[in-house]
Amino acid sequence: MEGWSWPLHGIRLRTADLDLQVMTEADLPSLCALLPDDLPMNPHATTYAGLDDRANRRAVLVQGYWRALGLWSPDDWALPFVVRSGGEVVGAQWLEGPDWRADRTADSSSWLVAPARGRGLGKQMRAAVLALAFGPLRADAAVSSAVVDNGPSLGVSRALGYRDTHRSVLEHSGETLQHVRLERAAWERSGQAHDVVIAGVSPALPLFGIDGDA
Ligand SMILES: CC(C)(COP(=O)(O)OP(=O)(O)OC[C@H]1O[C@@H](n2cnc3c(N)ncnc32)[C@H](O)[C@@H]1OP(=O)(O)O)[C@@H](O)C(=O)NCCC(=O)NCCS
Repeated sequence: MEGWSWPLHGIRLRTADLDLQVMTEADLPSLCALLPDDLPMNPHATTYAGLDDRANRRAVLVQGYWRALGLWSPDDWALPFVVRSGGEVVGAQWLEGPDWRADRTADSSSWLVAPARGRGLGKQMRAAVLALAFGPLRADAAVSSAVVDNGPSLGVSRALGYRDTHRSVLEHSGETLQHVRLERAAWERSGQAHDVVIAGVSPALPLFGIDGDA
């Protein structure tokens, strides 16, 4: 097995200021140390009565990583990236295909450490995974959502050409969620894929249900 690695871990994305690599077990301690307190967490994730809020947030991150790679299938996958700037970890970016072979629609979510926000890095890391989705993974569309007062998250979406579609109400908090969508044609017209360098995807294509020779 010398030289072998899980195919997803060869995927690497680069933008003007960022380097995105598929998360590994070795990234988890630094990501846990940097995890921001203001990150909206999945209300359906497992939490533990004996742990405080910070420890539970870390548990959600770590179990989310294991769940993503452990339950992977071409029909329902979640690809987590660790994001570095100048060699330092600054955040995480997820790309997801929850009904991939049926609708070829990619969802995403992300966070940055507070000092890295507001400098255009959120837009760069989303553009990086969109270039992967609409490029070698052949997505038809991308969607995203955020609570209506999350200006930076919706700002990233709107800056990249997503359009508002509909709103829904979160059952657990009563907050209003804005849903947005980006079609392949709008992404291609934007020319933003040119700023992203993608490497190492070919060996992983079968995991997305794509014949590598097609
Ligand atoms: C969401 C997040 C990743 C965005 O990254 P960021 O680096 O702060 O965002 P950027 O600097 O790339 O800004 C992207 C766009 O949003 C706009 N924007 C930023 N804040 C905004 C606000 N409060 N209202 C409206 N637009 C805003 C920017 O002007 C920019 O648009 P432009 O390129 O047209 O100027 C980051 O803020 C974060 O980690 N937030 C906490 C975690 C979180 O909420 N994650 C999303 C969960 S759904």
